[in-house]
Amino acid sequence: MRVSAAVHKGFVISEIDNRLYSAFIEHMGRAIYSGIYEPGHSQADENGFRRDVMQFVKDLAIPAIRYPGGNFVSAYRWEDGIGPKENRPVRLDLAWRSKETNQVGINEFAVWAKDAGIEMMLALNLGSRGLDDARNFVEYVNHPSGTYWSDLRRSHGVADPYGVTMWCLGNELDGPWQIGHKEAKEYGRLADETAKALRALTPNAEMIVCGSSNDQMPTYPDWEREVLEECYENVDYISLHKYFGNSSHDTLNYFGKVEETGRYIQAIAGAIDFVKAKKRAKNDVYICFDEWNVWYHKREDDSRRWRTWNWPEAPDLLEEDYNFEDALFIGCLLNEFIRRSDRVRIACIAQLVNVIAPIRAEKNGPAWRQTIYWPYQFASLYGRGRALRVAVDGPTYDCSVADDVAYLDVAAVENEGGMLTLFAVNRHLTETLDLDLSLGGFGALRVAEHRTLAGHGLRDTNGPDKPDAVAPKGGSGLVTDGDRLQGRIAPLSYHMIRLSV
Ligand code: AHR
Repeated sequence: MRVSAAVHKGFVISEIDNRLYSAFIEHMGRAIYSGIYEPGHSQADENGFRRDVMQFVKDLAIPAIRYPGGNFVSAYRWEDGIGPKENRPVRLDLAWRSKETNQVGINEFAVWAKDAGIEMMLALNLGSRGLDDARNFVEYVNHPSGTYWSDLRRSHGVADPYGVTMWCLGNELDGPWQIGHKEAKEYGRLADETAKALRALTPNAEMIVCGSSNDQMPTYPDWEREVLEECYENVDYISLHKYFGNSSHDTLNYFGKVEETGRYIQAIAGAIDFVKAKKRAKNDVYICFDEWNVWYHKREDDSRRWRTWNWPEAPDLLEEDYNFEDALFIGCLLNEFIRRSDRVRIACIAQLVNVIAPIRAEKNGPAWRQTIYWPYQFASLYGRGRALRVAVDGPTYDCSVADDVAYLDVAAVENEGGMLTLFAVNRHLTETLDLDLSLGGFGALRVAEHRTLAGHGLRDTNGPDKPDAVAPKGGSGLVTDGDRLQGRIAPLSYHMIRLSV
């Protein structure tokens, strides 16, 4: 099957915000406890953080991390996680029916994030709590000294404020399952007032207001409009969340969910534009896609288990085993983020370790990278710079979530230093695509690096006993000829191709 495509240096979609490749980690399951933190493990450092997990995290070059929740944050008391560890209370986490020991709190997490080279993006409890607790937390985190909360931080051994600028105004408050669920107008008012107060404390803060929990919510997309009508001028981003799956075992339809995501992004962009026009506002609000991933393999089983279990501590929860099909899907999804980087500025893979995560770690055992780690890593490392438009003329298919889905899913990024990176997935189940891509405005290019995920069964996974079963290898078959890239792309394959000028 022939595909012709064109990229031109001058057809820029947007400068990509590096935070498009951010992550999320929540106090739930074994994400924190026996995920990143396991004192006593043979790999633990002096603070109890696992070095093996840390290395996999560092290799992802994650710019920012959202913490500490998620559903968890909607009933979290941040003060429980500060001060001497032996005095910290054990609490019931109502979101996941678990016990929270509070052995990791903001100061421990900040040490981990600093070591990982990641900026913190903190979520506030606007579910069971409100403006006052939010401002106390921001004062503890960001005020230099001379006040109750800042001096308390100093007494906990942290002399300098953290200077956190990214603040999430609650989590998924449209969801009836949320502790402290709210109506749109009620939440919009609270978000507005909280944003105003926090900006007084941290003038350069960026406020992220909650959008819908997903695009299947009955209140979507009115929620976005109603919330933004209350707070548009005082916020910088609105969040999007979406989880994916292939329960029906229909691979092409699964891959087509990327198009559905494009529609979701477009609808929210429309709501933003509508409210901006209605308010005659000057400021722009962007999209923060701060929870995305595949979540379906064990979802129903997990849901049955945690709703009835007896408040365990750091239980096995949402430990999805990702397969090769999921890696191809994530490759396409990240391409969509690049293609929509004009509106989506921040995005967070949910989550990072053990819980629906690219990295897994056994308690007292090894850590390994799941299949989805690889497209995420390639996008994070090489998807920085300017997103370029790619015009594709090739075969398409119809499926239940979308029509005219191109078999070739592709994104292009012009990187600093005279490189052009292409991310391509052939979604076809059986056919090779014969690609003829014209590269305008660059001069002569040559293939500097080509990595691929290919030749695996769709259900193939990695695991502690086969950590690299699905891993990238050197690609071949694509060559440049002047200003053209030509070659064959095998069915069901992912490619990261770096071209140098
Ligand atoms: O990431 C798991 C959960 O999914 C989060 O706690 C919540 O925000 C979302 O519903």
